[in-house]
Amino acid sequence: MNETRADSKDSHLLAGLDTELGRVPKRFYVDSDVYDAEIDRLFSRTWLFVGHESQIPNSGDFVRGVLGTDDVIVTRDREGEVRVLLNSCRHRGMRVCAVEEGNANFFRCPYHGWTYNADGRLVGVPQRKTSYFDELDVSEFGLVQARAETYHGLIFATWWHDGPSLVDELGPMQPYLDIVFNRIPGGVEVLEGVHKYMVPANWKILSENSAGDMYHLPSTHASAVDLGLRNMPGSVGHTISAGNGHSFGSERGGIVQGSALPTEYAEPLAAARAKLVESIGPFGEHLVPLGAGLLFPNLSVLDTVRFRYLRLRIPRGPAMTEVWGWVFVDKALSPELKAEVRRQVSSFFGPSGLFEQDDHELFSAIQESLEGYAGRRGTFSIEQGRGHEGSVRDTYGVDLPGEVGEAFATEANHRAFYRRWRALIEMGAGPDPLLGINDARGTHVELSGQ
Ligand code: FES
Ligand SMILES: [Fe+2]
Repeated sequence: MNETRADSKDSHLLAGLDTELGRVPKRFYVDSDVYDAEIDRLFSRTWLFVGHESQIPNSGDFVRGVLGTDDVIVTRDREGEVRVLLNSCRHRGMRVCAVEEGNANFFRCPYHGWTYNADGRLVGVPQRKTSYFDELDVSEFGLVQARAETYHGLIFATWWHDGPSLVDELGPMQPYLDIVFNRIPGGVEVLEGVHKYMVPANWKILSENSAGDMYHLPSTHASAVDLGLRNMPGSVGHTISAGNGHSFGSERGGIVQGSALPTEYAEPLAAARAKLVESIGPFGEHLVPLGAGLLFPNLSVLDTVRFRYLRLRIPRGPAMTEVWGWVFVDKALSPELKAEVRRQVSSFFGPSGLFEQDDHELFSAIQESLEGYAGRRGTFSIEQGRGHEGSVRDTYGVDLPGEVGEAFATEANHRAFYRRWRALIEMGAGPDPLLGINDARGTHVELSGQ
């Protein structure tokens, strides 16, 4: 484990952050030192979503993913094990996989032809005898592998090989993820095709919005109300701070998504609610669907009555974020309903989605304001609701994992986000991605001097 507390020369990274009072320095969204620290210390350690098992059901299936800011191949090897491989040739760094998805036994680098198999081993080197004189130790040059684990088919990976397990990282967020991904017998699958687009704004602006910003709904999304696409948000909801920066925020009443709910959705929904009510009492009614949430640091989880939508916010510099969006549906739905879900999600979310465009227009304008000399100075307020955290424990007498408050609009989750953010930045230099990957099949050995 490579952990050091931030020394005093790092104190400038954190200066001005006050999670008690609720203050975030504006330079956090433009400062390249802060951005570099996030990549090196935070994204290197956290468990990050890279894809779903339904995308790679068979041996040799693969999809491209992004781990932090690294291009990775998410593949299923011959033994059926999920592997997350750095898409970078060990000879000179060329990517070895150029397509988004497929099935392959080998990944052949187009530059000089080094060839790797699905578990990352280097199995082919052109002119190995004539130019390397048989002296190249191929066991040393397998593709770099991340540590990978799954939860309800969601594939997560991390470069922190000797850090906490995925289950430890998710902690009290697990029962909430169970509600989202394990609601219906048969489970969920990803609809084919991943939304991909760029938003010219710092990744944290998007993450903070997902962490439970109910406050923006009446104003930012008023046009959707005018068009009859959703109810005017009321003032009742709840906020889940599950620990480790993971969170959900939910309004009561929800979003109107077209006509009356078909029985294919309504029945399982009612069954899931009844089950929760039976186990935890009346508050269970309000937990299905869960609403909008964030798996720290950058995965938005949207749980609605018809679908779940996951959005990964990939940092691409202090002022640019790449977004990847996956649509999840219940496997048991008919092809017609799956097609309907695809249409609905695309009209509300993703690059052509109404709600998404409402938000991104504002996010990019915020970023522009932060780029100015005066605009980047001072702090933002995240103090909303501080000291007024009503608890469902008091109202409903229910003990739920994490802290569950009764509030429609509060920045409690933003304060929790920055508490975790600070803890990771304070850990100092990130872990060695090459540690602990010297597996039994000799895929990798730890390299000296790197
Ligand atoms: S860079 Fe891949 S074989 Fe040379
Ligand atoms: Fe929004």
